[in-house]
Parts: sequence; structure tokens; C-alpha cells
Amino acid sequence: MALELKGCRALVTGASSGIGAGLAEALAAQGAIVGICARRGDRLAEVVGRCMDHSPESRMWVVNLADINAVDQLAVDVMDAFGGVDLLVNNAGIPKRRHTTALDIDTITAVMHINYLSPMRLTMDLLPQMLARGSGTIVNISSVAATLSAPGEAAYDASKAALTVFSEAMAVDLWETGVKVMVVYPGVIDTDLFHLPDNDVPNLPIPAEPVSVAVDAILGGLASDAAQVYVPEFFKELAAGKAQDVGAFLAGTAEYLRQQKETA
Ligand SMILES: NC(=O)c1ccc[n+]([C@@H]2O[C@H](COP(=O)([O-])OP(=O)(O)OC[C@H]3O[C@@H](n4cnc5c(N)ncnc54)[C@H](OP(=O)(O)O)[C@@H]3O)[C@@H](O)[C@H]2O)c1
Repeated sequence: MALELKGCRALVTGASSGIGAGLAEALAAQGAIVGICARRGDRLAEVVGRCMDHSPESRMWVVNLADINAVDQLAVDVMDAFGGVDLLVNNAGIPKRRHTTALDIDTITAVMHINYLSPMRLTMDLLPQMLARGSGTIVNISSVAATLSAPGEAAYDASKAALTVFSEAMAVDLWETGVKVMVVYPGVIDTDLFHLPDNDVPNLPIPAEPVSVAVDAILGGLASDAAQVYVPEFFKELAAGKAQDVGAFLAGTAEYLRQQKETA
């Protein structure tokens, strides 16, 4: 049965901007009580203000999700405030676009912490209360990079692949429990992600879509109990095509980059 959003207690991480902010506001507009978190308190305050216009019980927490103890504390605080979490959206993430030859192990580890270990920690913290109720939904915001192994961001790709595979295995483990898992694969959505400092200039293969497109796709996935959502949908065909012949796909990607360099 699809998730009822009216009265649903939702926690959306990384909701100070981009997809998380848009989704938090859309959930509140549909009657969900929304908890949001991120590091930038000023941006969070604006988002939670708009959520409270629809859903006055909505709350915000300023948290650095790189700090594992802070993740545990967030789970405690949200449980204290809401009495439970029906919908957990692990959305916070960092890109770290950097060529493999310029990567170092500390960077790879930091990306893995934010994009994989931290959301899994929060999931482990909040799963028991979902299991006890026999209901709940966990949405993990992955990336098409997880399936297409985008060049120039190997650390990011791997962290999202880890998130994806954990999610799929968890979905099966929880099949009979009433707890659902959905993985979202955004392609190119117009957010701060492509303008953050300390990242290589993005090499976008297609024009960016507005945040509303991603938000609508996620809401559509929740309404239809989808296991996965690609935004835009054609990335699903690309991922299937890659799986048919990985060698040819990688060679094609390398050739595309070579031609781009030549014409630059
Ligand atoms: N935009 C795309 O095309 C695209 C494509 C594929 C996947 N995605 C994924 O979509 C998700 C949302 O990204 P977005 O595109 O909406 O970009 P965004 O606007 O940069 O949002 C990222 C969010 O994560 C939060 N965050 C980052 N590090 C954090 C930390 N240490 N602690 C707490 N919060 C942290 C940021 O908040 P603060 O900076 O305030 O902490 C921000 O709210 C990410 O997981 C991203 O990988 C996006």
C-alpha cells in the first residue's frame, strides 16, 4: 500500500538546498510533518518556515552528518520531537568531482562517510522503530553515477554504488516486515551540487532539469510503491545498455571525452 503523506512523520537530510529542500516543502504541502537537517542553519530556517506554513509541527536540526555521534543524536532528537519516523529520506550528499589521478585516500574516505556510512548509520538508528510498528519507508537518494560510473568522480560514484547495493539488499531483507525501500537515481538536476568549491568543473552530458522534476518523480515513486526512480527516466535505459556490454560502454565514454577535449 502506498505511503499516506497526511500526518506522515518525515525526516529529510540535506534539506537546506536543492532536492532535499524541494522535497521537504512538497511533503509538508501534502500534510506530512517534516523534520529537516543540514549544516547551514540560515538556509534550513527558510525551508522549515515554508514547511510550517502547511505543517506547523515541522522542525529543523543543524547537524554535520560527517560526525557519526551527531547522526545518532539527530535520531534521538527526532524521535523525541515526533515520537517516530515514518519516512526517512537519506538525501544529504557531497559530489567531489576529481580525476582519479588527483584523488587521495582521505578524500575518498570523507566522501564515503557522508554519502554512505552516515545515511546507513541513520537508517540503523531509525529502522528498529519502523520494524516495531511494521511500517515505514526509507528513500535513499543515490545517483545515475552509481550505475553509469561517471568519469572524473570515482569516489562519488563508488559511495553512491555502495548506498544503492545496500538499499537493494535491505529491501529484500525487509520484504515481509512492512518497511519499504526506494532508491532514487537523479541525473542532472539544477542545484548547488554543481557549483560547490573544491570540485572539478562539471562535465554535464545533458541540460540540467529543475528541482521540481526530481521532487515530482520522488513523490510519484512513493505513490506507486516503486523500488527505484530514475530522473530523467531515460537513464534507466542507459544503465541497462551499459550492463549489456560494460567494455563497450567504457570505451564509448572514453571516446566521448577524447572528442570533447579535441573540440575544446
Ligand atoms: N543535482 C543532481 O543532479 C544530482 C544527481 C545525482 C544525485 N544527486 C544527489 O542528490 C542529493 C541532494 O543533492 P542536491 O543536488 O540537492 O545538492 P545540494 O543542493 O548541494 O544539496 C546537498 C545537501 O546535503 C547537505 N549536506 C552536505 N554535506 C553535509 C553534511 N556534512 N552534514 C549535513 N548535511 C550535509 C547540504 O547542506 P549543508 O551544506 O547546509 O550542510 C545540502 O542540503 C545528494 O545526495 C546528491 O548526491 C544530485
